[in-house]
Amino acid sequence: MRQDGRVTDPTAEAADALAADAAADARGAADRPRPAAPETALDPAGMREQYRTEGLDARTLAADPMTQFGHWFREAAESAMLGGLYEPNAMIVSTADAEGRPSARTVLMKQYDARGFVFFTNYGSRKARELAANPHLSLLFPWHPMARQVLVTGTAARTSAEETAAYFRSRPHGSQLGAWASAQSEVIASRGELDRRWAELNARYPVGTEVPVPPHWGGFRVTPAAVEFWQGRRNRLHDRLRYVREGGADGRVPEGGREGGAAGWRVERLSP
Ligand SMILES: Cc1cc2nc3c(=O)[nH]c(=O)nc-3n(C[C@H](O)[C@H](O)[C@H](O)COP(=O)(O)O)c2cc1C
Repeated sequence: MRQDGRVTDPTAEAADALAADAAADARGAADRPRPAAPETALDPAGMREQYRTEGLDARTLAADPMTQFGHWFREAAESAMLGGLYEPNAMIVSTADAEGRPSARTVLMKQYDARGFVFFTNYGSRKARELAANPHLSLLFPWHPMARQVLVTGTAARTSAEETAAYFRSRPHGSQLGAWASAQSEVIASRGELDRRWAELNARYPVGTEVPVPPHWGGFRVTPAAVEFWQGRRNRLHDRLRYVREGGADGRVPEGGREGGAAGWRVERLSP
């Protein structure tokens, strides 16, 4: 998080460029002969890493979870720059429908600040429809190469039209058209249908023209109720420190209630 409290946009356009590169790499890789993995390397029961010894101490934690997230996100982004991690802003968003049936998918976190985490998606998608019926969700940042994960539970609300528009305008032209072309989560007859729709839109809004913000597309801001910082340690004795919001979603501390951490947040250690 920036010291001046302004919203941070971790990757904006770079993510799309990276995704395009990755897709090109994957296409190339499919043509190259691959070394065969020995059978023993394919057995998940034998896959075992010894995690780092560096610990996580409640005394060195930031006063609030979003500042602590900022510290860890910086380290994850630095690790990504050195090739240790891929897409540190990728997170798994889990939602549940009105009957409590869960679903999960990866999305890119595009902003974070003291208010929470923001991602963008199609408002007609499965996740968005589930959030409309049940705003409770969880986020998971899986930073495996660092033996870390951050788990967030909270509620999601749509970002304002202005905020959505500001982000939409920062997206590459091709992705802007993609948001129009895709009725996300709907069944389509063929890949060709999607490509055709995109090409039609590209003819209507060529590069250099302003693509309107689709009314069915926008952001969700996740207000955290709890944020757990998980650090892998030796012998599976991991560190788990969880900030739990005291009082209501506005963070006000209930009378007489505060066990530790900053005003509005209690920090507790969980058994691994
Ligand atoms: C690395 C990665 C990043 C993704 N980022 C987004 C994103 O920011 N927004 C989004 O709507 N879908 C994103 N997706 C696609 C989603 O995982 C998912 O397929 C899509 O949102 C539809 O989900 P739903 O049908 O459960 O609503 C991403 C997928 C991957 C693998």
